[in-house]
Amino acid sequence: MKLNHIVEVQQFRKKELLEEVFSLTERMERLDETGDSSLLLSHTPRKKILATLFYEPSTRTRLSFESAMKRLGGEIISTEDAPHFSSMVKGETLEDTIRVVASFSDLIVLRHYEEGSAKRASLVSPVPIINAGDGPGQHPTQALLDLYTIKKELGRINNLKVGLLGDLLYSRTIHSLVWLLANQENIEFYFISPEPLRIPSDITVYLREKDIFFKENCNLYDISSILDVLYVTRLQKERFRNKEAYNAVVGSYVVDKEILLSLKPDTKILHPLPRTSELPSDIDLDPRAVYFKQAENGLYIRMALLKMILE
Ligand code: CP
Repeated sequence: MKLNHIVEVQQFRKKELLEEVFSLTERMERLDETGDSSLLLSHTPRKKILATLFYEPSTRTRLSFESAMKRLGGEIISTEDAPHFSSMVKGETLEDTIRVVASFSDLIVLRHYEEGSAKRASLVSPVPIINAGDGPGQHPTQALLDLYTIKKELGRINNLKVGLLGDLLYSRTIHSLVWLLANQENIEFYFISPEPLRIPSDITVYLREKDIFFKENCNLYDISSILDVLYVTRLQKERFRNKEAYNAVVGSYVVDKEILLSLKPDTKILHPLPRTSELPSDIDLDPRAVYFKQAENGLYIRMALLKMILE
């Protein structure tokens, strides 16, 4: 199936498309073993160029996209700190920047602090745009790698009880993952967050409309023993309106050893990373903690997406 812009995860509603992405991702994961050169980008008439345009900090998303492009034999150009080192400093609009960068590249991966920015970029760009996070909006490629990780670790993406713990209001990875999971069969959502950081109402309205089970305001200790997946996020400190609002919730949740004792032996703990105090490093060796494997899966998912978009 042909992919062009990736702006929101709802674009992956079609089962066949998701299956195609995951199947290609599995092949990308084994590329070093198989040496299957048909997985690489074809270079006629020249090498393909990926532009990474980041207006917010990133470790995983930018570097995994850049590594993915290089592993496929392509080239990259990059602005990692666009608010300081792009012509935005001189007053250039996002739309103008996109038009110009598009003339230098075959695809643009964009991270921006404003919700809706990827959509705006896609409306003026002659080359595909991939949303690498638009403010508190969405992070669709993260949701794809999250779901791929669940599939690999549990062998299924249906019939799951999923606990989502943390900053559900501002976390774009949570928003995208819930939209994506809501399209799978027999998913139960358990939302666990500090009161001011509850899941946005557009999501709960949708879940109600579709008759999908969810429970808000859960106590982690009450539900931990039934979960198949515990997905944790940090407080999105950069999105809080003021210091007081942040100080009121900081340290209010943590996945500690007591929680680990209450989880099932096969529950998987995911986190998009980076983490802060909510996920102490002393649980990293627990076999249920799969967040570093999850980050690695981002590389393979992004290789598959680049291949599908560019060819
Ligand atoms: N998960 C994620 O988006 O990480 P980065 O902010 O490091 O890209």
